[in-house]
Amino acid sequence: MLGDVHANYPALKAIEKHINPAGFDYIINTGDLTVYGPFPNETIQWFRDREKCISIRGNTDQRVLRILKGKRLKRPKKEEKRVMYFWTSEILLPENGSFLKSLPEQASFYAGNISIGVFHGTIDDPDEALFPSSPEARFHQLAKASPYQIQIMGNSHVPYHKIVDGVHFINPGSAGRMFDGDPRASFAVLRLSSNDITVEHFRLSYPVEETVRGLKDHKFPDIYAKMFREGRKLN
Ligand SMILES: [Fe+2]
Repeated sequence: MLGDVHANYPALKAIEKHINPAGFDYIINTGDLTVYGPFPNETIQWFRDREKCISIRGNTDQRVLRILKGKRLKRPKKEEKRVMYFWTSEILLPENGSFLKSLPEQASFYAGNISIGVFHGTIDDPDEALFPSSPEARFHQLAKASPYQIQIMGNSHVPYHKIVDGVHFINPGSAGRMFDGDPRASFAVLRLSSNDITVEHFRLSYPVEETVRGLKDHKFPDIYAKMFREGRKLN
């Protein structure tokens, strides 16, 4: 499981090298393939090339699609963020734009007899960000309202695994853009057996300077390089 790659292809490649996804039944991607990193085409192509991927779109992908449709971008408001959305929509190859457009907002499937839902935010709202510290009542509500025994989510960029009312809530963290001051890539492995569900989270060093070089090649100011090097939000 991985998500929030945010066009950070060197981080994605490092995860691939470490984990060898060919050995798994599924690659589950919780969305936000694009924006803020300099490699949106390479990142999307990686997912296009893998048949075992269950991918959804995230809110940054949704905004790129809005621009591609010629619609006005309402959010984010800050110019240093907006510039990355417009740049991504300009550099995106048409076939990668089409792939992004083809992705659903959420997905579900069965692994054996276990039902699994994949959401960017939550089943109710792709923009919602759930944290381990989010009110317990919200987890109870989500456990009660959805038919999924496992709910895999992204968006908050915070890795966690919580079991509430028998439902497993899992966030693999952000593969490409962590916010906690640790720039390493975050992802997780889900293992299912007839009587057990286990989740293992990983943090993995990747060649951040390759990402920084990509930013420099496109003449982006240093604030973006700092964000990736430090594993912090843009502001
Ligand atoms: Fe994200």
